Amino acid sequence: MCGIIGYVGKNQKSLDVLITGLESLEYRGYDSAGVAFISDDKLNIVKEQGRIRNLKEKLDFNMPTNIGIGHTRWATHGLPKTVNAHPHNVSKITLVHNGIIENYEEIKEKFKTYNFKSETDTEVAACLLNNLYEKNNNMLDAIKEFIKEAKGAYALGIINTDYKDILYAVKKNSPLIIGVGKSENFIASDVHAILKYTNKYIVLEDETFAKITKDEINIFDKNGNSISYVIKEFNEDEKVCSKGIYDHFMLKEINEQPEVIKKTIESCLINKKIDFSKYLENKNIKKIVIIACGSAVNAGYVGKFLIEEYANIPVDVEIASEFRYKKVFINKECLVIPISQSGETADTLEALKIAKSYGCYTLGIINVVESSIARICDDVIYIKAGPEIAVATTKAYLAQVLVLTLLAIYLGKKNNLINEKLEQELEQELNLLPNKIESLLENKDYEKIAKELYSKQDIFFIGRNVDYALCMEGSLKLKEISYIHSEAYAAGELKHGTISLIDSNTPTIAIITKKSIASKTISNVKEIKSREGKIILVTSSDTYNINDSDYDYEIVIPKTKEIFRPILAIVPLQLISYYVAKLKGCDIDKPKNLAKSVTVE
Ligand code: G6P
Repeated sequence: MCGIIGYVGKNQKSLDVLITGLESLEYRGYDSAGVAFISDDKLNIVKEQGRIRNLKEKLDFNMPTNIGIGHTRWATHGLPKTVNAHPHNVSKITLVHNGIIENYEEIKEKFKTYNFKSETDTEVAACLLNNLYEKNNNMLDAIKEFIKEAKGAYALGIINTDYKDILYAVKKNSPLIIGVGKSENFIASDVHAILKYTNKYIVLEDETFAKITKDEINIFDKNGNSISYVIKEFNEDEKVCSKGIYDHFMLKEINEQPEVIKKTIESCLINKKIDFSKYLENKNIKKIVIIACGSAVNAGYVGKFLIEEYANIPVDVEIASEFRYKKVFINKECLVIPISQSGETADTLEALKIAKSYGCYTLGIINVVESSIARICDDVIYIKAGPEIAVATTKAYLAQVLVLTLLAIYLGKKNNLINEKLEQELEQELNLLPNKIESLLENKDYEKIAKELYSKQDIFFIGRNVDYALCMEGSLKLKEISYIHSEAYAAGELKHGTISLIDSNTPTIAIITKKSIASKTISNVKEIKSREGKIILVTSSDTYNINDSDYDYEIVIPKTKEIFRPILAIVPLQLISYYVAKLKGCDIDKPKNLAKSVTVE
């Protein structure tokens, strides 16, 4: 992962530009941060372990400088210590890097005599580039050869002390944009980092590189030929990136869900009808394969159960990092759906390329417009979640589940399994969902339940079918932000071993929204109760009857059609996790060791 930023221009206060940019890129990693800049003709490198605020304390913002690069790190090679922080310098070359140089050991071997200071692959990249520069005495030739030698993924921002007014950038398999200003230009891992200064940007393509001065941008292909580029405009409002009245971005984003759902529904309707015909009308789909990572996989599981049940099409959900290295069973009759909030997740991107190589039609469900995955998919359904800042996803996950639900309805209709009457009922109910989420947000029981849970070591989540898929996301949410160990179990599977872990100190959250199998999960709840395990139920009022003595807490979601219950039932799980993490004093928006956009495999 990691976030990179670079500036060259008229602004003598480029340190402000670098730090503002890095602050908006901190979601990409926050193990350490650093900047390199030229001031009074001299190169300065300042770096510090931990958050950007630590780096800021070490900087003298009065130093005049109009060229610099900056980095916020998510450690891959080497501990999150200052010595491993970027930028890395070797002689005339100083660079910041996002990605992994896979053959760095091989390259390092060639420079055995060089005294490497860090454990990073990035310092090796700097050493290689410096060597190529010394050999060629020309930066463009050096970068051209670098592309030939370096394997893996990289977005590099580079300065060379021989050319104190030029910023260089090169990219392969990691995101990088060039911001276009007036007498100033930028590079960044994403466009938000430069929006304060310009909304004009160029997307750098793989295996291309750029030479950037304050007035000129030149882009070259891997053979060093100059290539043309398109300047795009980003029109989203920058101020969405503030917490507003909320203590945390996560809480803000949970509360934005009614609006997100409303906007996403609107974007999937044509003449008030759920309509994906422009993507799917003429497609004869025999199988669907969903590829994704993290919460997006969990959304995929909800989609699997719904599409299989309502549209009678088999769906495989593949963890993208596994899909890349296994035998795959896909062909032209498969619809492949990559799901990704960021649109940059390296494993999902590579899995998508595999699907394309088999001739599959690829239809992405993505949040970030113009992201790498979005650009490679044949078509994209954009969720309307807006920028998501908290590392733990909430509103993007929910919008992904919504789109998959709508796809299940559309495909069910296409396969004559949903008749017009049911379709109308579903479409009417759909419009009531934002208000129903609103009412769930007002429930005050989550904090009470969180008090019961926050001191526990282990928590289980159980459910069957689509409720099991919800458990996966509920469990992931809880562990990633509160650091409490939790596991999602298919309710019927608990008795095959794991029930031995249940005792009065190990609570279970049971999700029961599916009427046809509610009684089965209730039996499993009773099994837990009779071993003194505490039970928290998340359920729908018309699902079943249960004795008060069989559970300890109950959250009842508003009445809705069964197909829409996952959209409601996840909200209590998000809020319970949030309040547990808050009671534990965790860094909710930036949990330890994580990053929001995972651009390494
Ligand atoms: C990271 C994030 C998760 C996210 C996953 C996939 O692990 O912390 O919240 O679900 O990446 O990201 P994507 O952007 O592809 O949805």
